[in-house]
Amino acid sequence: MSDSYLRHYAGARVLVTGGAGAIGGNLSRALLDAGAAEVTILDDLSSAARWTVPQDPRVVLLVASVLDERDLKRAFAGRPATVFHLAALFANQNSIDHPEDDLMVNGLGTLKVLQYAHLTGVERMVYASSGCSVYGKSPLPLREEFLSIDLATPYQITKMLGELYANFYRNFYGVQTVRTRFFNSFGPGEIPGRYRNVIPNFIYWAMRGEPLPITGTGEETRDWTFVGDIVDGLLRAGAMKEALGEAFNLASGLETRVIDVASWINEATGNKAGVRYIERRKWDDKDRLLASIDKARSVLGYEARTDLKAGLGQTVEWFRANWRDIQETARF
Ligand SMILES: NC(=O)c1ccc[n+]([C@@H]2O[C@H](COP(=O)([O-])OP(=O)(O)OC[C@H]3O[C@@H](n4cnc5c(N)ncnc54)[C@H](O)[C@@H]3O)[C@@H](O)[C@H]2O)c1
Repeated sequence: MSDSYLRHYAGARVLVTGGAGAIGGNLSRALLDAGAAEVTILDDLSSAARWTVPQDPRVVLLVASVLDERDLKRAFAGRPATVFHLAALFANQNSIDHPEDDLMVNGLGTLKVLQYAHLTGVERMVYASSGCSVYGKSPLPLREEFLSIDLATPYQITKMLGELYANFYRNFYGVQTVRTRFFNSFGPGEIPGRYRNVIPNFIYWAMRGEPLPITGTGEETRDWTFVGDIVDGLLRAGAMKEALGEAFNLASGLETRVIDVASWINEATGNKAGVRYIERRKWDDKDRLLASIDKARSVLGYEARTDLKAGLGQTVEWFRANWRDIQETARF
């Protein structure tokens, strides 16, 4: 497969909002590897830490909010050609507990980033949407055209809202937007915590020798996607002309049971404490999740290359290498 899309970033100036986060940190590193001249990271570090920010002289870190006009002006002053908008209040449970913050950051924050993209004439803005959000309970495998307005949490609503704003700015002002819909990202760089995804949290409990808490029966499936594959899809979405105006699922295209993921993590970490079952969360209404990646494959040449077990192995290695920092940073 040609990697010509990577050449697009050589010498480029790029803005990554949320660039210190689980996916944003990996994306920023990939942009530096592709030869970007400058990667500006606009992140208020509300769910990330300084130690996860890539250390490179080409990184300009602005510890600030996407809601702050002065900081947005600073972020766009470098005239980025491409903006990856990943900053968000993450995720479902957090939005149930803090619905107004969710609307401010994910709704108004996205509107402001689009407004600056428009005013400063950026070439492209790639928006991080969520496939686990915008499809509701549509039939599987989830395809890009299956949208639902019966969504289960404020986060799901505001992820959809961001897509609607992206379309408005494209249709009305001609901002070149691409909407990417991630499914259950996991991998090195995600610090566990109360509102974080299940995989980093399982690894955290496993490394502490505690039973892994399963909310539900464990038979539920998810389409777990290695962060490196999501980053590869983002780089394609930010560079290829065929992507403009489109929405793409970035997923593995495979479903795996929660209980299997828990067992593999216990095996990989040598945790003998097993699992424990706790009540399913009221908003968590999906027994299965599976995305179609046909469109990303045919239009972008995207493939999910990292096998789940290999990705889990890399994630456990990252936990071992950063265990002290992780324990100090994780908030439950
Ligand atoms: N991780 C997933 O499985 C997944 C799935 C679907 C969609 N997404 C979307 O992808 C994006 C990245 O997700 P992630 O897993 O890296 O989450 P993350 O929480 O690690 O990253 C988001 C980053 O945004 C920052 N942030 C929060 N509020 C901010 C604000 N007001 N101003 C500036 N920065 C702010 C946080 O500090 C964090 O570093 C998010 O938009 C998320 O909604 C993630």
